[in-house]
Amino acid sequence: MGRVDKFKKDMNFKKGSIGVFDSGFGGLNILKSILKKNSDYDFLYLGDTARVPYGTRSQGVVYEFTKQAVDFLFNQNCKLIILACNTASAEALKKIQQEYLPIRYPQKRVLGVIVPTVEEAVEATKNGRIGVIATEGTVISGAFEKELVKRNPRVKVFSQAAPLIVPLIESSGNSPELIGMILKNYLEPLMKKNIDTLILGCTHYEILENEIRKIVGKKITVLSEGEIVAEKLANYLERHPEIEIELNRNSKRKFYTTDLTDKFVNLGSKFLGEGIKAQKIILN
Ligand code: DGL
Repeated sequence: MGRVDKFKKDMNFKKGSIGVFDSGFGGLNILKSILKKNSDYDFLYLGDTARVPYGTRSQGVVYEFTKQAVDFLFNQNCKLIILACNTASAEALKKIQQEYLPIRYPQKRVLGVIVPTVEEAVEATKNGRIGVIATEGTVISGAFEKELVKRNPRVKVFSQAAPLIVPLIESSGNSPELIGMILKNYLEPLMKKNIDTLILGCTHYEILENEIRKIVGKKITVLSEGEIVAEKLANYLERHPEIEIELNRNSKRKFYTTDLTDKFVNLGSKFLGEGIKAQKIILN
């Protein structure tokens, strides 16, 4: 037994879960990929379905809501939280990491989905022209652009807010023609910029990845976040044994939502690829 292990055993330390937070159930899509790669850890998912969408809200409100979610998940003994929501990652993560955690939870960590995706994008691009589609909030925050340029000041970033895609995915019975038309409306302006890499910067978009690939063609590398985040999480846990040691590995899953509707259960199960039983909670 290592020194850290022994210390925690002596302290009667209680191990905990990895929390995954999203504004709704889109994050279940990210969790699906995370589980494929990191299946033995315990996971606790929280979707703020009562207040979704975050993508059209102000930065201040997204920060407050995300902070409440972080409090809830840490109170449930999560040791590490992944903000699967791009809008929360773009508009709340930095402030939470820099101002909130040091005061309230100095031993705990909150990670987002933007940095892992950006790291992959700067590796993938050959011509340095990267497109991003995301919610309005994420695009206005400029978070993808800032992180991309920080890693490679020569890249050119073209961002496109795509506010109709989330409702399109969440409503059933849309014809392939309508889906194609809406996607083309957002993608064609980016294609005209001669991008060679496209970031799908929202939890939901992976669901339409095949349709998006058909429109943009083979010459554009399409990056969706699930697999990237799963890979980076595994890597993070390897590099941070002090966090990893705190995690239970009993493959337990718990699902919480702020509004329990049939839609959450049905669409959520579709996103996760397996049935879910969710419990309703109140965030404040
Ligand atoms: N989960 C959000 C995101 O990834 C999309 C839905 C919303 O607007 O809340 O940005």
